[in-house]
Amino acid sequence: MSASLNITRPDDFHLHLRDGPVLRDVVAHSARRFARAIVMPNLNPPVTTTAAAFAYRARIVNSLPRHAKFQPLMTLYLTDDLPPDEIAQARASGHIYGVKLYPAGATTHSEAGVTDIRHCDATLEKMAELGIPLLVHGEVIDPAVDVFDREPVFIERVLAPLLRRLPTLKVVFEHITSRVAVDFVLGAGKNLAATLTPQHLLYNRNALLRDGIQPHYYCLPVLKRERDREALTRAAISGNPKFFLGTDSAPHARHLKESACGCAGIFNAHAAIELYAEAFEQAGALDKLEAFAAFHGADFYGLPRNRDRIALVKKSWTVPEAYAFGDHQVVPLRAGEAVSWSLAD
Ligand code: NCD
Ligand code: ZN
Repeated sequence: MSASLNITRPDDFHLHLRDGPVLRDVVAHSARRFARAIVMPNLNPPVTTTAAAFAYRARIVNSLPRHAKFQPLMTLYLTDDLPPDEIAQARASGHIYGVKLYPAGATTHSEAGVTDIRHCDATLEKMAELGIPLLVHGEVIDPAVDVFDREPVFIERVLAPLLRRLPTLKVVFEHITSRVAVDFVLGAGKNLAATLTPQHLLYNRNALLRDGIQPHYYCLPVLKRERDREALTRAAISGNPKFFLGTDSAPHARHLKESACGCAGIFNAHAAIELYAEAFEQAGALDKLEAFAAFHGADFYGLPRNRDRIALVKKSWTVPEAYAFGDHQVVPLRAGEAVSWSLAD
């Protein structure tokens, strides 16, 4: 008999669902696996008001497969001039779960992001006061800083000073990728947590340059060294409630990745919990998966834990070469290769 795993249905605390004709194709993958997801606001134009977030939420719900119970948890996109009043409105609505900081120019659709965090002081104070978490893309965009050091330098220049100025602000350091970031989160107060993606737990930067440039392994922050991957794995399996699941599944049409200037983002929603199961099994810690995937994030966000369960079986399957993505296709993580865990229906 093959091994199996029965866990509380997980949540995805960092997800890109996109919008328009691709939304239906994209959301179906997450809805099969996860109960809820924190939905990133980096649309074009970005989601900067509660009204826009509500409209986006309705489009997501209308795109769900029949009978799906998936709940999108909406966020706002921080800009240099997002007013504190918008935060008050977001809080009053009861349906905004975080505000996302993209340093301007750091990643996909971050052009409208923050040019200097000090421009946001009043808004961030309001968030601290009302208990709305700041969700952080933690990379500096200074071209003088080595791409592989952008996360550690962000900690030094932006995140550490911010937490000193606003010691009660709840912060999720999203998709951390380095040993330095793990250590920083461990050393900070309870108000700082971090999400970990499957790709950063399973791969190091060699995957990007394996027999040529591999655009489907390119995301931001970029994959780091093996010693970083090991530190992230230790954090994920530690049982420490500061670390939880956030896939950063970020689909792009195939032609935009397989291009002379391929864009950043890895699509993993088709096998997200299965890939985390692989990473935890490799680390000999399958017993730690449930809390990481279903408890720690909900507890941090003050959400009730899910009641229903999912089952996974140790049965290998081959990931399709591509999935539908509106009028295009998206190439998933592990395309054409095996994933060793399957979702039991
Ligand atoms: C994300 C996207 O495509 O929206 N890309 C990525 O590489 N992770 C944006 C982000 O989270 O940085
Ligand atoms: Zn992301």
